[in-house]
This record gives sequence, C-alpha cells and structure tokens, in this order.
Amino acid sequence: MYELHGTIAVITLNHPPVNSLGAALRQHLAAAVRQAESDPAITGIVLVGHAKAFSAGADVSEFGTPLQRVEPMIGQLLAQIEACQKPVVAALSGVALGGGLELALACHGRVALETAKLGLPEINLGLIPGAGGTQRLPRLAGLATALTMIQSGAPQTGQQLAESGLLDQVVADDLLSAALQRAADLASLGAPFPKACDRSLDPEQVQQFVREQAAKLTPRQRLQHAYAAQLEALSAAAGDWQAGLRRERELFLQLQSSSQSQALRYQFFAEREAGKLPLAWQAEPRTVHTVAIIGAGTMGAGIAICALDAGLRVILLEQDDAALKRGQQRVTEHYQNRVQAGKMKATMAAAAEARLLPSTDWAQLAAADLVIEAVFEDLAVKHEVFRKIDAHARPGAVLATNTSYLDVDAIASATQRPQDVLGLHFFSPANVMKLLEVVRGRQTSADVLATGMALGKKLRKLPVLTGNAFGFIGNRIYNAYRRQCEFMLEDGAWPEDVDGALQAFGLAMGPFAVADLSGLDIAWRMRKAQAATRDPRERYVAILDQLCEQGRLGRKTGAGYYTYTEVRQVKTTDATVRDLITQASARRGIPRRALTAPEIQRRALLAMVNEAALLLSEGVASRASDIDVVLVQGYGFPRWEGGPVFWARQQDRAALTQDLHTLAAQAGHGFVLADLSVLLD
Ligand code: 3HC
Ligand code: NAI
Repeated sequence: MYELHGTIAVITLNHPPVNSLGAALRQHLAAAVRQAESDPAITGIVLVGHAKAFSAGADVSEFGTPLQRVEPMIGQLLAQIEACQKPVVAALSGVALGGGLELALACHGRVALETAKLGLPEINLGLIPGAGGTQRLPRLAGLATALTMIQSGAPQTGQQLAESGLLDQVVADDLLSAALQRAADLASLGAPFPKACDRSLDPEQVQQFVREQAAKLTPRQRLQHAYAAQLEALSAAAGDWQAGLRRERELFLQLQSSSQSQALRYQFFAEREAGKLPLAWQAEPRTVHTVAIIGAGTMGAGIAICALDAGLRVILLEQDDAALKRGQQRVTEHYQNRVQAGKMKATMAAAAEARLLPSTDWAQLAAADLVIEAVFEDLAVKHEVFRKIDAHARPGAVLATNTSYLDVDAIASATQRPQDVLGLHFFSPANVMKLLEVVRGRQTSADVLATGMALGKKLRKLPVLTGNAFGFIGNRIYNAYRRQCEFMLEDGAWPEDVDGALQAFGLAMGPFAVADLSGLDIAWRMRKAQAATRDPRERYVAILDQLCEQGRLGRKTGAGYYTYTEVRQVKTTDATVRDLITQASARRGIPRRALTAPEIQRRALLAMVNEAALLLSEGVASRASDIDVVLVQGYGFPRWEGGPVFWARQQDRAALTQDLHTLAAQAGHGFVLADLSVLLD
C-alpha cells in the first residue's frame, strides 16, 4: 500500500496513463492514508505520482456515471487528507491538473519539480474546480494568481510558480528526497500542520476584485456559464470555509450537467479520437527527421516554423533567390519576435534557425524524409512541382501537398509513386492553428497516412483524417455555410445582421468579416475558375464578385462587405453595398424582409449539418465527431456548442428534418438534401 522511507510512508499514485482520480485510485489513496495515519511508527506521509503525472485530475470518463459517486468522492478524500493527524506532502512531477492539483492543495506541504505543470483546466471542460480549488488556491496564492489559473485553464511550471505561495519548495531533481525532508520537517514542528482552510481572505477585497473581474469578461466568456461561476465561487471564498466549499460544489454540479460542459467534454474525447486512424488504416509510420518544404510563402514559412519548433531539420525550397529571401526573412522575424517578447530563449531560437536550410537547389530534396509542397494553388504549377519532386526525392520519402481545394489524386498522378502522396492541409497561420487535415488519396498507402498523422502530433497539431473531396471536410462545410449566408443577404439580411447573429451564437467571427479579413479575391478567383462548369439553374449570389469588380477586396483595400476607416475597425455596411444587395434581391424577385438572429443562426447551422451528413455518407469524414473537431479547431465554431453534429443531436429531430426541407427549397436547384440518419442514429 505504501513504502517506508525511514518513518515516512510514501504512497504512490498508480493509475496509468495519467493518474486520473477514478474510483479505484481514490479508494486506494484513502485506505493508504488511513493505514499510515494509524501506524504509530509513521511520522509523515508523502504522495508521489510518476514522471508523466502526479495526477491529471478527476476521471472525466466517470462523469455522469455511478462511479463518480463511489466513496470517497474527491472532496471527501481531500477532507480526509487535510484532517490527517500526520503531515501529508505532495511531491509534484509531470502534470498536476484539476482535481490532481486540488489534491495537492489539500496536503500540508507541496514540493514540485521545476518542470512540473500545475493547472486548473476545468474551464476547458465547461466546469469550475469542484474539489476546493476555488477556495484553497486564493487562500494560498492570492486572488490574482488563483483567477489567472482558474480562468485561463493554462498550466504553469513549478519554476513559474516558485514564488506564488502555492509551493513550499521547487527543485531541479531528486524530488522524493525534498518531499521526504519536508514531511520530516513538518512532523518535527508538530500539529497543527499548515492548512489552506486555516487562512482567511479579506471579504471587502474579494468582493471588489470579483466585481472588477466580472466587468472584464469578454463577450465570448459571457456566453459560457463557467466564467461567471468561477467568479461566484471565488466570491464565496470570502466567507465561511464550509459554506464556500458547498457553494463551489453546487456550482460545479450545475455546470457538470449543462449542455455546454457536455459539449466540451465531448470535444475533449473527440479530439483524442480524431488523432487515431480507423483500424483498417493503422500501420507503422515511416521515420521523419528531415522535412523539405517547397514554397516559402505564407503557408510554407509557417509550416517551416512549426517543423523547426518540433526539432526537425527543414529544407526550405523556393523558385528564386528573391522569394527564398522573403521566406527566410519570415522565419527569422518570427524567432526575433518570440525572443523579444520573452517567449523563447535566444539560444533555442538560434538552435531552431540552425536546423533550417534555405535553398533553390532541387537536389537538396534527396535528404528529405517528407516533402510538403506549399506553392501557388494552381494544378498546372503543382503538377510541375510534383514532377520535380518525383525526380529528386529519395525512394520511400513521403510526398505531401498543402492544397486547399485541388484534387490530391490529380496531383499524385504527376508522380510515379502515388502511394507515397497525401494531402497535409495546414491552416493559416500554420504555426498557430492546431488543425491539420490529413488527406487520403485513392492510392495513398496506410503507412504514408500513419506518417502524416504522426507528423501532425509531432508538430503539436490535431490531425484529422479526411477523404479527397473538394474542400476536404472543413472548407467544404465552410463553403456550404457561406453560401447559405449569402442567400440570407438576398433574402433580406445585411452583412452585419448575419455576422452579428453568428457571433452572438459564439462564432469567433461572422462569415462576411472573415471574408473581408482573408481577402475577397481568393473566393473571386475560385468562382471565376468554376464559372464554366457552374449549372446556370443553381442559385448563385454574385454580390462578392461585384464587390471585387469595384476594387473592394476586403480589409487590405480599405473596403469589402464593410468599409474600414482604420485597421481592425468594422463599420456597418455603406450605401454602395446595400444597393448591391438590394439589387440582388430584386433580380431574384425576393421581397426583402428582416431576418431574426435565431433564424439566421438556425439556417447557417442547418447548412453545416446538411453538409456534415453528406460528408459522412460519402465517406469523406470517417467519424461524425471528426467533423466537429475540424469546425471547432479550424473555423472558430464555439467549442462549448460541441460542433454542428453535436448541435444537431441536441435538436428536435422532426423540426430539424422539416427545416432542412425548407432550406433545400430556399436553395433551389442543385441542393443535395442529406439523410440525417447517418449523423443522428
Ligand atoms: N480523465 C479521464 N481520462 C483522461 C484524463 C482525465 N482527467 N486526462 C487524460 N485522460 C486520458 C485521455 O483521454 C487519453 O486516453 P486515450 O489514450 O484512451 O485516448 C489518455 O488519458 C492520455 O491523454 P492524452 O492523449 O491527452 O495525453 P497527453 O500526454 O497528450 O496529455 C494530459 C495528458 C495533459 C493530462 C491531458 O490528457 C489533459 O489535459 N487531460 C485533462 C486534464 C483535465 O482536464 N483535468 C481536469 C479534470 S476535471 C476535474 O479535475 C474536476 C475537479 O475539479 C473535481
Ligand atoms: P503564397 O503565394 O503566399 O506562397 C506560395 C509560394 O510558393 C511563393 O513564395 C512562391 O514563390 C512559391 N512558388 C510558386 N511556385 C513555385 C515553384 N515552382 N517552386 C518553388 N516555389 C514556388 O501562397 P500560400 O498562401 O502560402 O499558399 C500556398 C498553398 O497553401 C496553396 O496551395 C494554398 O491553397 C494552400 N493553403 C493556403 C492557406 C492560406 O490561408 N493562405 C491555408 C491552407 C492552405
């Protein structure tokens, strides 16, 4: 049950992989502490985890199941430890998150490795800490540190928290010795041992702090119930200890049963599931140490940065010296900025840059284990580039394209080895966005796909498998959604009505603000390319083309759907745009009427849901939850709404089906109505 080190009992938390506090571990801990407490030969207790985790907190998979209520529940276990007659010290290594950190806070002493990661990430699951974190942390570390940790959910290292009051000692190594010493010291000082609950906070100060912080919540935070609940729980820390704990528990349980928390927990598991290839595609990935990136533009430079950050060697290839210099400059500026902002040590930045080999010599490709093409979005250019790659890359190298829309099979056909070709669709900015669509071509071999997924993880991305279809998962849904939003302009809404309603739903930005930001010419170019094959009977909204014809390409030209007097400031639409929209309605014979925010939100979501069902039935997406991960990670869909599929599953099915039929009628010719049973059954 425990090991003896002299007179100190060392209890090891052992529940792979991350010591989540499931029922069995809670029972083991309670019994071990009880036994050590009652053994007269023992003077103190140390709790240890392993290198990866002290504990990642409550076992999320137990939530909503009877196991969660198996005694001792976490709060009971922590009360037992806090009341223990012998000093209990937590030795923190790896992660101590959520209930895992709360367990440490209930101990009488805490010693951490410099590298240990301590945090309260409950907010990411739509929760507040529910085992005393909101009560003990402000008493130990003060209100500001407590709120930062609770609100951001981001872990901090032992080193960062060394002076916070949370830790007694931070060590570079030999954690166990330091923890044993701390337990021995506390034992020799004798009871009462230090407890967070014996400290108190100034009620006036707490209430003022809470009021100030409430006023600072952002609109997106206000949409999520857990942010207000955090402040309410902190406010309860000003009063009686037991009452504070009770209030925290009530709030925690309310949030736990909310649809927002369910959606966020669903996303947590969906993200982890997305990273696993379906059984039929599982294979041993090929080894990748050196990556070649062709094209050092916006995407190529961003991809280079994340590969360098992951410790890979990068060959950056361009068509001429001037373009190469620009690309290299992008990478250099990035590292300079990181160092200047104090986010990276100069030595680390220098080491990353030293792994970069900029070149215009295609022969360099021979050294690459994996090649990523990020040149212009033009099939002829991609063909030419892939022919060259085929000529220079070594046999067995994985060949990837970062194309947004082009056919990966068509690109692969330029090589003699289509089995080695796949799509790796990064999102912009590539060194920031976590999503990576891993595109399976018709002939892509299993180990090549596995290599794409493994590379994604190495680059700290969220890789999601997708089939090879126009726009893959994300852009295909986004196109259907944007098209629906354009219909709503013709039906009577203004761009700001649509953007406002969707932002009120929780989207990071509305579609017209996004279009202005990325530049309307991207879509314009694609529309022109598709014009020849477009069915004239399809409902086609030409407003965007007309804006472009007037030179309104978005923010970069000072006007698009909106006019911009200064950078970042979004104005309402001006008379020119309103005229264009009114004329578009008239041409289609639509009497304009105002659309309500709920109507706008529902139509936009239905368009996404319909496309999601099509993607799943066509086998482009292999799991419904993958679609939700893509929309949340790549397109600003509110994570707390779970994604379009999760949203659809919360709706009344008959109403959903009926509204989809209405949507199909509004869209007219060519709209493919999906069978929702693939998503809902
Ligand atoms: N409960 C249940 N399972 C968990 C878990 C948890 N708290 N944390 C991780 N896991 C599982 C994952 O689902 C995954 O399972 P799988 O292998 O079957 O897919 C496995 O452990 C490994 O996790 P990762 O793939 O995420 O491994 P990483 O090494 O990338 O990350 C981690 C490890 C940093 C611990 C990360 O998993 C994480 O952030 N976990 C969530 C931590 C968290 O949110 N804790 C708070 C829980 S709520 C709480 O404590 C309430 C309390 O206040 C009462
Ligand atoms: P970009 O125009 O910024 O960069 C393209 C680079 O490729 C240029 O530097 C150009 O000199 C270089 N190049 C062109 N032909 C070349 C050749 N034959 N050999 C070597 N280099 C060559 O373009 P961007 O935005 O980086 O896009 C690149 C690819 O990534 C495109 O396929 C695009 O669809 C895709 N993509 C773009 C996203 C974005 O938001 N910009 C997002 C996801 C994918």
